[in-house]
Amino acid sequence: MRTVVLLTVFSTVAASAWLAPPAWQLPNSLKGYCDTLAAAKAVQVHVTVQEVPGATEELSIVLAREGKYFVDSPSHLTLSDGKTVTFLDKKANTYTQRPVGETVLADLNSEVSTWVLMPFFEKESAKLFTSGTKKGSRKVAGTDSDEVAVVTPEGDQGSIYIAKASGIATGFQLTREGKSYVVLFKEAKLDGEDVADSQFAFVAPEGATKEAEATEEMGAPGWATVSPIFKKSCMPCHGEQKADGIDLRTYSSTLASKSVVPGNAASSRLVKSLRGTIQPRMPQGRPPLPEATIKVVEKWISAGAKQ
Ligand code: HEC
Repeated sequence: MRTVVLLTVFSTVAASAWLAPPAWQLPNSLKGYCDTLAAAKAVQVHVTVQEVPGATEELSIVLAREGKYFVDSPSHLTLSDGKTVTFLDKKANTYTQRPVGETVLADLNSEVSTWVLMPFFEKESAKLFTSGTKKGSRKVAGTDSDEVAVVTPEGDQGSIYIAKASGIATGFQLTREGKSYVVLFKEAKLDGEDVADSQFAFVAPEGATKEAEATEEMGAPGWATVSPIFKKSCMPCHGEQKADGIDLRTYSSTLASKSVVPGNAASSRLVKSLRGTIQPRMPQGRPPLPEATIKVVEKWISAGAKQ
């Protein structure tokens, strides 16, 4: 009896002291959904997006391997052929183009309609969520679904509904920057046939004019791009609390923290802490930032950490 108790105590101590902390785990239904997407060759979905309260918009989305994606709505078309991202504003009949680079995940994340499809391009699903909790079951568009409440590293909150039978999302609810959205999957196809490359080829509509993107998008990100990352993922610790003397609230306080070496991302403590090459890895106690987000911060620093 005594031995058993000792063993239990020992193994508890050993587990918490020696193993990486399994702080939390994605509920099985969400993990299953993420793994299914990560393994799929292509995804084709029709969704309706409603900003609550507000009108409903219908979109058609196709994702394929090697950074190819297609998001078509009545107001705009976003298209990546794996090399170039084109954004067409249908009303103005203007479009912009930029290299796809490492921004695929960030692009999917920025559109509400594609947010829940990020696991297609990010195999480590745990990086996409800071928590996931099974809430119960409900019918979504007539389909029995599990409801999983999630929080993302960027501070978004939502519920993802996953069909019990197929394991595929039937829809989700997302709260982002004070706005609430409901997205329903009307039709979802995974894999099956490969999607033709022509799906991702941009053909400018008649009379469309090409515009230059804001220089910030084309070249290096500026403070306006990285500041929201710090606001969402590094507060409150590096705000009022100034953990380790580092205050990431303003441009000047960030540079004054000496954690950024302008022009040299690799030797910046801030980057090392995000990559976990110095411990503790940041954001402390939360999952690592998505690779695409870390790359944005690196790009900002490499190009001189400009305001
Ligand atoms: C939950 C609180 C918390 C969050 C969130 C957090 N940090 Fe930290 N951070 C800390 C603490 C505490 C330390 C001091 C750690 C130590 O030295 O043991 C620290 C230290 C650091 C350091 C100094 C590392 C070193 O050893 O020189 C950097 C750089 C840093 N954080 C960047 C960030 C960035 C960037 C984010 C957001 C992406 C972030 N942190 C999010 C609490 C946090």
